[in-house]
Amino acid sequence: MKEELLQVRNLCTYFYTDTGVVKAVNDVSFMVERGQTVGIVGESGCGKSVMAMSIMRLIQNPGKIAAGQVLFKGRDLAGLTDKQIRRINGDRISMIFQEPMTSLNPVFTVGNQIAEVLLLHRNMSKRQARERTVELITTVGIPRAQGVFDSYPHELSGGMRQRIMIAMALACEPELLIADEPTTALDVTIQAQILELLGEIKKQYHMSIILITHDLGVIAEMADYVIVMYAGKVVERGSVKDVFMNPSHPYTCGLLKSKPQLDMENERLYTIPGQVPGLIELPDACHFYDRCEIRSSNCKKGFPGESLIEGSHFAACIKAGRHKNE
Ligand SMILES: Nc1ncnc2c1ncn2[C@@H]1O[C@H](COP(=O)(O)OP(=O)(O)O)[C@@H](O)[C@H]1O
Ligand SMILES: [Mg+2]
Repeated sequence: MKEELLQVRNLCTYFYTDTGVVKAVNDVSFMVERGQTVGIVGESGCGKSVMAMSIMRLIQNPGKIAAGQVLFKGRDLAGLTDKQIRRINGDRISMIFQEPMTSLNPVFTVGNQIAEVLLLHRNMSKRQARERTVELITTVGIPRAQGVFDSYPHELSGGMRQRIMIAMALACEPELLIADEPTTALDVTIQAQILELLGEIKKQYHMSIILITHDLGVIAEMADYVIVMYAGKVVERGSVKDVFMNPSHPYTCGLLKSKPQLDMENERLYTIPGQVPGLIELPDACHFYDRCEIRSSNCKKGFPGESLIEGSHFAACIKAGRHKNE
């Protein structure tokens, strides 16, 4: 049985800056089912982190959720008080970030920081919290958990710190884990280990994961469903199989072409020409227009609505379906 855990509906998150309104998340809708891993992919500056922070209600001035809804098990998170949100965050929904050093407090031991989450959300004694924390540190693949409990963040490697962040995020067995570029700051072997760990944990806890990355290879390996974001908009979404077999937005095709392949070590990697536009006062046209290889004058007549490709596969391109990743 499919169960909708999270529903993001027409979400708009804007930053009201001195130079204009930055439409970082611009009318985005998608759904996460229980047990599903949804990948969000796109170049830097496309609105992926702002989206994650919006779900966690972590957007701060001058940013604001300007419109839309974030429904968690049918309940609109936007309507909750800060106190209610604090109960949900870290408990039912938790998040891990790219750079664990920014989320770990340097003056407390990592064990105490994990235990703190349990003390906040669970009715546990200090001793129970310590025992559970040692278990969690073991779960994320760190040997000699007792010793690591009393370590400070700077005493651990980047990979170990990310494992600690994962342990902290798992402390209350959340139903939804949001991982924002969790491996980007790590070297390749450690990246693979962390992704493997996330995969195992997902199975064990039957959680849903929103996995944010700029790396389509990570999506292919980890996700069930993928959302391609460009300049604050969803330009394509579908099951990983559908999107990889039949990419239907030229941006997705470009991303796929720029993905490194094992057999092309000596070739120069393709990059999509141009760059993500600034998100202030974008014209009411396809945001990808300037960089698109198949654009036509009709693409300037407003942002294209989503066309159904097949099943749950959609693309926001007026030529969707007519071009393939040649
Ligand atoms: N505090 C802020 N003030 C103004 N603009 C912001 C702020 N935070 C993010 N943005 C803008 O929102 C857009 C999306 O950013 P972000 O979500 O971080 O992108 P991504 O995670 O996809 O790299 C960018 O254009 C960024 O400059
Ligand atoms: Mg980001």
